[in-house]
Amino acid sequence: MTARILNGREIAAQIKKEVAEDVRVLTEKHNVRPCLALVQVGRDPASEVYVGSKIKSCGELGMISEHHHLPDSVEEDELLGLVATLNDRNDVDGILVQLPLPKHIDEGKVLAAVSPEKDVDGFHPMNVGRLWQGEDVLAPCTPAGVIEILKRSNIEMNGANAVIIGRSNIVGKPMAALLIKESATVTICHSRTKDLTELTSRADILVAAIGRAGFVTGNHVKKGATVIDVGINKFDDLDNAGNFFGHDLEKRIETINTRGFTLIGDVNPKEVIPKAGAYTPVPGGVGLLTVAMLMKNTLKAAKGRRRLRI
Ligand code: GUN
Repeated sequence: MTARILNGREIAAQIKKEVAEDVRVLTEKHNVRPCLALVQVGRDPASEVYVGSKIKSCGELGMISEHHHLPDSVEEDELLGLVATLNDRNDVDGILVQLPLPKHIDEGKVLAAVSPEKDVDGFHPMNVGRLWQGEDVLAPCTPAGVIEILKRSNIEMNGANAVIIGRSNIVGKPMAALLIKESATVTICHSRTKDLTELTSRADILVAAIGRAGFVTGNHVKKGATVIDVGINKFDDLDNAGNFFGHDLEKRIETINTRGFTLIGDVNPKEVIPKAGAYTPVPGGVGLLTVAMLMKNTLKAAKGRRRLRI
């Protein structure tokens, strides 16, 4: 068996096309152009890339974006002041505070300061609670993107055994809430879980969100399972590349030689692709959905807070 590759690029493009069409109608019918405010603190290299791609997507989809870039040294009060201003502005529909924040800033306090109706990341405690009550809220973008991949690839969630590795607030926990809403039976595993392999090898749907390169091996996976790889890690170990990459080994080695690294998820593709029924690759899988779902959430926030249906 070789896994069906679930193409994140195609699904993300499809979602962005739907959002762009809705934005066009919203603008023509109601003279409303959704506006996303991005708040970035400091110069975390990954954040630079993510924020850049979010701004680019807003432009492509006909939405307005604003980039508020504050220095590493900013005081918590000043950041909270900016969030309050953005909350009060009627022209701003979505607010995203890019994580991580510097250590001297209380992340929870800042996320709780964002108005729940503009909380396009779905990180506000009110939205987290409502998500667990099964309501149709602004849900965190990465796990919401995973649900879109599963739905649009016709993978049955109803009654499926879904196992998530990772218990983060950004992915693992909201992923569980969203899968329960789809009537899956959900298990969350993490670094302290006993007999991890025994649990994962029962999964019809296995979601890897651990942050450890190539952690999930063939032994973890039931034959024919759907394996969703949420990890994004840099890989530059030329000596070991053959243990992780299979059919694309030569291309991967070329990428490491030219760019200095290739991207690998939390799943070992060489071991898992031959055993799984379906698999989201890295790159080209879940990562692309995150931005698409952020655009979808910004549109949803714009319609929701303005009480508009189109
Ligand atoms: N940093 C890593 N992932 C995310 C995310 O989904 N949202 C925000 N705001 N920051 C992040």
